[in-house]
Parts: sequence; C-alpha cells; structure tokens
Amino acid sequence: DLSPIDKAKFVAAKQATTYVQSGMKVGLGTGSTAAWLVRCLGEMVRDEGLRIKGVPTSTRTAELARGAGIEVISLDEAKWLDLTIDGADEYDGDLNLIKGGGGALLQEKIVATASDQMVVIADVSKQVETLGAFPLPVEVIPFGWQTTKTLIEESLIGMDVLGNTTSLRMNGETPFVTDEGNHILDLHLHRIGNARQLSLVINQIPGVVENGLFIDICDSVVIGYGDGRVEVRD
Ligand code: A5P
Repeated sequence: DLSPIDKAKFVAAKQATTYVQSGMKVGLGTGSTAAWLVRCLGEMVRDEGLRIKGVPTSTRTAELARGAGIEVISLDEAKWLDLTIDGADEYDGDLNLIKGGGGALLQEKIVATASDQMVVIADVSKQVETLGAFPLPVEVIPFGWQTTKTLIEESLIGMDVLGNTTSLRMNGETPFVTDEGNHILDLHLHRIGNARQLSLVINQIPGVVENGLFIDICDSVVIGYGDGRVEVRD
C-alpha cells in the first residue's frame, strides 16, 4: 500500500506514459517521481512490447532504466528526442519550473531542451503561485567557487527576490559533486519575482554552469493527488 505522496507520484507517472509511443526516443528524468516513470515504462517494455530508446538525465536514472529493461542511449547518439518526462521541485501557473533538488539540473535542462516536448510529473505539493520557496540550485565549477558565490550574491542586489543567502550543498562533510564534477549552490530567495531575468543574470556570471530555472521549456504538467486523481495543465 502506497502513502498518499507516493500514490500521487505514481498516478502522475502512470498517466504520463500515455505520451510515450513505440519508436520514440524519450528523455528520462531524475528523482523519486521520475523513478516511478522508469518503473512503469520498464513494465510496458516487458509486458506490452513497447519499443523505446531512453536518454537518462543522471547516472542514477541510467542504472534504474537499465535495471528496468529499457534500452539506454546517450544524448549524442539520440541527437534529438521526441519527449522528455521529468519531475520538478516547483511549477507555477506559466509552467515555469525550479529543478535540481536532486542535483541533476544540468543534464536535465540539456535533455529537456533537446526534446520536441517536455512533460513534468509532480504531486500537487509542487504547485506554487510564485517560484522561489524551494531554494534555487545553481551548478558552479569547483574552481573559485567561493568567488562565484560572492558574485552571485552581489548579482541578487536589486533583483526582485526576498532573500540572498546562498549555501554550498554538502554530502556529509564534503561538498556535493554532480555527475559533471561540479558543485551546487542553493539560493534561498523565498520569492522570485522575475524568473526569466534572474536566470539570465545568474548564467552571465563566470563559474556558473547552469541554474535550476526552467523557463518556457515545459509543455505540460501531469499533477497527481494523494487520492489517485490526476489533472493535466498545458
Ligand atoms: C533532480 O535534479 C530534480 O530536478 C528532480 O526532478 C526534482 O528534485 C524532483 O524530484 P522528486 O520527484 O524526487 O521530488
């Protein structure tokens, strides 16, 4: 028996499989909701003869997908994808997102951008009026990361945000390291008034690789509820 939160994630993932057809190249997201999707797709490959090629967005998802019996190829082999299905940490009414709570935002953003369509799967707790309650993850290269952190904090002055503390994401005693060998700074902004502008400003700073704001990338959100209901926004 699933808890309401797991049920919500599962029904969203299950519903999103209806976007997947045989022959498609599909981007596979990262996180606990995307893990449900990988399981569902694995079952369809095994039991229903679904033929897809999956492009994972992290080493974690690559392992999960292979374990589920999904053929895994790289983005360079795929070149372009029909569809990416991924989770999110927040989505707003314009279907803009914060992602990267799991630390995979860089590959996730590259893969989603290289797809005809991006579908987000989320339980309703991820829905917000304004982005920013969830700390915004920013991937930075390890070289000079403290300088990069200072430059990010300075860039926040005058921006439409409610906080400016930043923290280096840790993995126990040592800095968290992404699949690309980088670090993550989490920006505690509480409220992001102009996400498009903030994303551009942050990405201009040397040392920043990418930030977790997904603007105009997501086409549909499949929202799951704890009682098993599903709703689609697009
Ligand atoms: C991974 O880097 C993130 O972007 C995830 O998509 C996000 O954290 C959602 O994860 P859950 O589905 O586990 O909430």
